[in-house]
Amino acid sequence: MLTRNDIDRRQLADGIEVWIVQFGSLGNINTAFIDRATNTVVLVDPYSGKKWLSALKSENLTPTHIIVTHTHRDHTAGIQYLMKSCPEIELWGHEKSNYPKILSRPLFKQLNYTHYWNHPPHTSEEWKAGGITLQATHTPGHAPGHLTFHGHGVFHAGDLLFTQRSGRVDLPGGDPEMHWKSVSLARQILSNLPAEWRLIPGHNYEWIDGRELCWVSFADALEHNLALTSPNLEAFEMLDFLRFDDELAEY
Ligand SMILES: [Fe+2]
Repeated sequence: MLTRNDIDRRQLADGIEVWIVQFGSLGNINTAFIDRATNTVVLVDPYSGKKWLSALKSENLTPTHIIVTHTHRDHTAGIQYLMKSCPEIELWGHEKSNYPKILSRPLFKQLNYTHYWNHPPHTSEEWKAGGITLQATHTPGHAPGHLTFHGHGVFHAGDLLFTQRSGRVDLPGGDPEMHWKSVSLARQILSNLPAEWRLIPGHNYEWIDGRELCWVSFADALEHNLALTSPNLEAFEMLDFLRFDDELAEY
C-alpha cells in the first residue's frame, strides 16, 4: 500500500499533477503525470503495478500510459502486472531499448511495446497524452535506447543522472562516450529551463549532504552534480562511479 505520505504530490498551474514515489531496496524513483480533466495517467518506469493501481484507484484514477526510460529490470518490474490489469494501457519506449543479447537477460527485460519511439540519439520528440506534454529525449550510454522525459516542471532522468552522480557505463550495452554526450545534452536542457524545475533521478542515491532525495532543483543539480559539472570527456571518464567492482550491486 502507498500512503499519502509516500507520495510527493504537486499540482501545477496548468492543472497537471506530478506524483513522485520511491520504491524498493535500490531506491528506484517513479513519476506519475496525472491529468484529471482527461483521465490521463502516465507512469514512468513503474516499479510496483499493485501499489500504483491501488494508490490511483483510491482516487478513481486508472493508468493509461507507461513510458520507459530503459529496460533494466528494476525500471520495468511493475509493467507486466499493469498490462494484465489494464488491457487498454499503452506501453511506450525506444525501439533500441530491447537489448537483444541472450546472456544479458538477467539484466534486461524484453518488453512488447504497444508504441515506440525511434528518434536518433541526442534528439528529442514531443509527446502528448491528454493534457500532458513531455519531451522524450534519446539519451543512450547507460543503456541502449535510454530516454529522459521532461515537462510540467520536471526532468525525469532515469539512470542518465542521479542527484549527485550519473548512471554507470560498464553494463552490457553501456557506452561512456555516448553517456557523456547524453549528460552534455541534459546540461543544455536543464540550463535552458527554469532553475526551480526538479531533476528526478532514477534512484535516490545520496546527495552532497548524505540525504537520499527524490529530486533536487535544476539549480542545485547544475551546481553540484559531478557529471554535469565535468568540463570535458577526459574529466568525466575519471569519475569513480561510472564503473563498479560488483556489476550487480547497483543498476
Ligand atoms: Fe539502469
